[in-house]
Amino acid sequence: MKTRNRPALIALRRGAGFFVLVLVSSPACSPNSLNSTGYVLPHAANRPVNPPPFWWGISTSSYQIEESAADGGRTFATDWDLFKQTAGGVARDDRVASFKNTERDLTALKNLGVTHYRFSIEWARVEPSPGVFDNDAIEHYAALARRLREEGIEPVLCLWHFTFPDWLCDFDHLSRHGWLHPQASIAWGEYVTTMCARLAPYVQIFAPQNEPNAYALGMLVGHFPPGRPSGEALYDELNQAEVQAFLQAASIIRACRSDATIISVQNIVHWRRDSFDLIGFYEKSLEYNYRHLDGIAGAIDYVGFNYYSGEIASPLSLYQMENRAGPGVTDMGWYIDPEGLEIEIVELSRRYRLPLIITENGIAARDDEKRQAYLKSHLRAVRRTLDAGYDVRGYFHWTLMDCFEWTSGYGPQFGLHTVDTQANVLVPKASAQLYRSLIAGRVMDGNTNPTMLEPATLVATNAR
Ligand code: BGC
Repeated sequence: MKTRNRPALIALRRGAGFFVLVLVSSPACSPNSLNSTGYVLPHAANRPVNPPPFWWGISTSSYQIEESAADGGRTFATDWDLFKQTAGGVARDDRVASFKNTERDLTALKNLGVTHYRFSIEWARVEPSPGVFDNDAIEHYAALARRLREEGIEPVLCLWHFTFPDWLCDFDHLSRHGWLHPQASIAWGEYVTTMCARLAPYVQIFAPQNEPNAYALGMLVGHFPPGRPSGEALYDELNQAEVQAFLQAASIIRACRSDATIISVQNIVHWRRDSFDLIGFYEKSLEYNYRHLDGIAGAIDYVGFNYYSGEIASPLSLYQMENRAGPGVTDMGWYIDPEGLEIEIVELSRRYRLPLIITENGIAARDDEKRQAYLKSHLRAVRRTLDAGYDVRGYFHWTLMDCFEWTSGYGPQFGLHTVDTQANVLVPKASAQLYRSLIAGRVMDGNTNPTMLEPATLVATNAR
C-alpha cells in the first residue's frame, strides 16, 4: 500500500486509536518534533474558589494486563483472542497476570500514593456466554473495588475498554459486529445492570466506555479486530451506536446509584493545521475529537479525556509517523506536545463548560528519563491551566506497568513499573518515584510554588 505517486491507504495508529482513509499523490518529509507556537493561555474563571482535592490516578485496562483465563473460572474469549488466530493479530500472553495478582498491584498503587485507580471489567470474563454470568469473576472485580476503598484509593470503573465477548463478534459481517451486533444493545444493558448491581456498593465513579472515538476510527481503517476496514457508512453507524450505548449505560448507572459520577473517556489529539491542507483534513480531524463527546455531553458530570500527543493534520504526516525518531517523539513516533494539552484543556472547557479529568496521559519510552521529562512537562501544562483558572480536577497516568499494547504487542513500554515475573513484584522505574514525589508534593493543589515541576529539578528528583 505504500505506493508513491498514486492513491494510497493510510492508517494512523495513535494510542489504541488510529486514523483515516486518504488519497495522497507524493511523498514528503515530516519533522521529528513540533515547534511550540508560543501559545498565550487565556484566563478563565470556571475553577471553583475552593476546589476539591485533585485526583491523582493511574489507568489500566483489563485486556492489557490480565491473563487469559481465571484459575478455576469459566473459559472465555474476546474479539482480540479471535483476532490473534487470524492473520495480523498479535497474541497477548500471561506475563503481566494482574488478575491473580491484585495485592501485588495494590502495593504498587499504595507506594505511588495515588488517590484514584481506573480499571476496566473484561466483559467476556464475567459473561462468557450470552446471559450466563460468572459469579467468581464478578466477585473478583467487586473485591478489587472493595480493596481499593479499604486502602483509601477511589475506584473508577470502566465498563468497556475496546474488547467484546466472542459471542458479540461477527468477523464476516462488520455490520453485525461488536456495537452493531443485533444483540448488542440488550446484552450491554444486561451486562451494565449486573455490574452496577454488584459493584455499586464500592464504586461511585463510572466511565462507561474508553475512547469510543478511537475505536470507531480503528474499525474504519481496519486496525481493530477483525482487521478489515469497515468503510464510511459503517463508521457513522458505529458512532451512533456508541453514543446510544453510552447514554443507555449512563441511565442504568444513575438508576442504580443516584449519586454516581459519570465521566467520558475520549481520545483527544492536539491537531495542528498543515499549511498545505487542501482537503479539509484539519476539520475532519477535529470532528474525530468531538463527535462522540457532543452526543453524550448532557449525560456526563466530568469531561474525561486521554491526551498523548499533538499531530499535524496531514495525511503525509500520519503516513510517516512510524519513521519518526528523536527527542521530540515517543518510541511510537508520536509528537510530544505538552503545549497541545494546554490548548485542548482550554478548548474542552469552552466547548462543554464542565470540569475536566485527564483520564490517560503517558509515553511509550524505553528511556525512562524521557518519561520523567514527559511527565513533568505535561503536569506543568496542567498546572498552568489551573493557575489560569481552568477547572481541571484530576490526572491519571497511563500506566502502572509495561503491558500489552494492542497491535504493537509488548514492544512499547508505557509503564511506571516493570514486571519481575520471577519475584512477582512490580519494580518501580525512576518515573514512578518521580510521580510519587509529585503527588506527595501536592503540585496541583496545596503547593503554591510547584518548583518540583521545573525541568532543572529532574536530576535532583532522580537522585532522591
Ligand atoms: C488506550 C490504551 C492504550 C494507550 C496507549 C489509549 O488510547 O486507551 O488502551 O494502551 O492509549 O496507546
